[in-house]
Amino acid sequence: MNRTTRIGLLTSGGDCQALNATMRGVVKGLCSQLERVEIYGFEEGYKGLIYSNYRMLSPSDFSGILTQGGTILGTSRQPYKLMRVPDENGLDKVEAMKHTYYKLRLDCLVILGGNGTQKTANLLKQEGLNIIGLPKTIDNDIWGTDMTFGFQSAVDIATEAMDCIHTTAASHNRVFLVEIMGHKVGWLTLHAGIAAGADIILLPEIPYDLDKVIQAIEARKRQGKDFTIVAMAEGAISKEDAALPRKEYKKKMENYPYPSVAYELADRIKEKSGVEVRICIPGHMQRGGSPCPYDRVLSTRLGAKAAELIVSKQYGVLVNIVNNEVGTIPLEEIANKLKMVSPDASIIKEARMIGISFGD
Ligand code: F6P
Repeated sequence: MNRTTRIGLLTSGGDCQALNATMRGVVKGLCSQLERVEIYGFEEGYKGLIYSNYRMLSPSDFSGILTQGGTILGTSRQPYKLMRVPDENGLDKVEAMKHTYYKLRLDCLVILGGNGTQKTANLLKQEGLNIIGLPKTIDNDIWGTDMTFGFQSAVDIATEAMDCIHTTAASHNRVFLVEIMGHKVGWLTLHAGIAAGADIILLPEIPYDLDKVIQAIEARKRQGKDFTIVAMAEGAISKEDAALPRKEYKKKMENYPYPSVAYELADRIKEKSGVEVRICIPGHMQRGGSPCPYDRVLSTRLGAKAAELIVSKQYGVLVNIVNNEVGTIPLEEIANKLKMVSPDASIIKEARMIGISFGD
């Protein structure tokens, strides 16, 4: 008789588009290969695994969710650095997660999440659990994969926001700073900035010089273009701040008087050049709504690969995509690493070639 395969599913960290689409891919793949599958969905990410909050799901729960944003399981942030710290009642979280896993006699835990999530996934692998990671984040900063699901959908939204700003900026001859998410990396800002025809793109990986930003705005004016669109990453940093010792920079940020970096830059531009600047922050809209077609395809491919791995009992990896080939990479090779934009990347050179300023 065919044995039942029991899998746990969880989505952790910030939500994004295509979490549901990816889980659908996993479940559809498993159900087409195996006769008997039990699916345990943990609620609100690792929290559900720690406190044994789960519900049993049937394949029909994964029908009709290809286009649905968010996550049917819910999610939460459970920082990796606190995983070894007992909770307020003294509970050992790692032991609790292992307990839930063994109690349910899971064959494998499928974990959808970004960098922090995959660090914990690797920790659980080291603790002896069968784990498969799936690369989620609008930031596209997971090491070992060319692309994460959520990224392209967020690029679409950030681009659309800038497209809207473009028409009003042009009508009023205004300078606009559009602050784009991305945490510590600039992928989203770079791609949306190019797609929306931004004139200046400011990334964490290329610290900016205020004078160069102002010069770029003024150069456009001399060409008869009285408006400027600046795509600014939420993690963008000035050259002075980048040169500060880590401790000093941290201290500065503790007493930071601005809601975010765009406000600081807007103030500094006004102070130094008199140019009035408007700010637009699309914020969490970038993570919301339906996944774009690219993400639906990517998620389906990654999910199907995860199913293949479960069927063949290959665990301990992140499912990735490199040069358009879906494959795997061991979790320990990606944990604790960040995929950043290289200032020497060809996409940066091409952007510079058409006159985009990086403020450096
Ligand atoms: O990692 C995804 C992301 O949207 C980042 O781009 C952003 O810095 C962060 O999450 C925001 O987190 P939160 O939803 O907790 O405010």
